[in-house]
Amino acid sequence: MINRKMSESSYDNNITIERKHSHVEICLHGDVAFNGKTTGFEWFDFQHDALPEIAFSDIDLSTTFLGSKIAAPLMISSMTGGYSEAATLNQQLAEAAEHFRIPLGVGSMRQALENTSYRESFAVVRKYAPSVQIFANIGAPEIAKGLTDKEINTMLELLQADGLIVHLNAAQELFQPEGNTDFRHVLHQLSALTAKIPVPVIVKEVGCGISPSAALRLIEAGVKVIDVAGAGGISWQKVEEIRYTRQFGNDTRFSTPALEELLNWGIPTAQCLLDIRALKKEHPELKTIEIIASGGIQSGADIAKSLALGAQLAASARHMLKALHQGTLEKTIETWLNDLRAIMFLSGSASIEQLRNKRLINKQ
Ligand SMILES: Cc1cc2nc3c(=O)[nH]c(=O)nc-3n(C[C@H](O)[C@H](O)[C@H](O)COP(=O)(O)O)c2cc1C
Repeated sequence: MINRKMSESSYDNNITIERKHSHVEICLHGDVAFNGKTTGFEWFDFQHDALPEIAFSDIDLSTTFLGSKIAAPLMISSMTGGYSEAATLNQQLAEAAEHFRIPLGVGSMRQALENTSYRESFAVVRKYAPSVQIFANIGAPEIAKGLTDKEINTMLELLQADGLIVHLNAAQELFQPEGNTDFRHVLHQLSALTAKIPVPVIVKEVGCGISPSAALRLIEAGVKVIDVAGAGGISWQKVEEIRYTRQFGNDTRFSTPALEELLNWGIPTAQCLLDIRALKKEHPELKTIEIIASGGIQSGADIAKSLALGAQLAASARHMLKALHQGTLEKTIETWLNDLRAIMFLSGSASIEQLRNKRLINKQ
């Protein structure tokens, strides 16, 4: 139990540690899936190619992300850091990213800015993944306050980061017992940030998705990559609702029907991809903006459909964490990449570029 008499900053510090710790524990063991809402990947089938004219063994999974070559179109999404056990998790995630030569994000670095104690739990990532793209991470509430040059440098230098990921998490903050729901000035501060930061800025949701109109505003603010992080995987409202009821008992903040709606709030991942693909078609000047598909990715089939729906790569958090917990992280990634190869074979795609141009049949 947190001692409320301790100084304000160490009280905040303990809350942050408790939060990051419970997030891992609740995502591993809690009921945090959307109820009655899916990612939407099941709406689509690839068209079978009876004449693929390729050898399975020649299929090439490599592609690029932000101009650098990566071995496969998969990223390990931002998760953790900022408390002692997080160093071990981040080390293991980094080892897997380095092994597969795929990009990796760390969890929110707010803790590293406020307190020097746990900086190593972030820095460890670069030690164990010296050659892959690594992304720093910070939340919208910190962006809204405005990041100083010193804070930006601290985050980037700790990781020798290749970019900064900003997460937009209004629904999560709304449900979080200690949530910060002041989302004014985020866009304005993002524009200021992209104008001065020496690396690309990626903006993501955490499970409610990014609409085309939000995407357009982000791109106008100088954002180079959008990670849709749509609905169908983890409901972060549910994660925070579990933390809330542990602290305060039953949630009486909302009426029962509205609570059900809010806990399952969000745009399915495949819908976000479809809509943003249409937006990019309408605006040819957005051609260079890269899209990450995430939110409920759970197989190489989902990765393949993401690419055919316009994503540069797909990213996964919860399934990576679960696999790590079960000691099967490398096996899981290998299996997903093999799923992807199988779909490429049957759709007649020898390369990721060819897969991106394959037709999906919309069964809806
Ligand atoms: C334990 C855990 C902690 C997370 N912490 C962060 C975070 O600090 N910053 C962030 O941008 N996203 C965070 N996320 C969200 C993921 O990066 C991702 O956007 C979201 O979980 C949806 O992807 P998924 O369905 O594959 O889990 C976290 C996810 C997990 C599982």
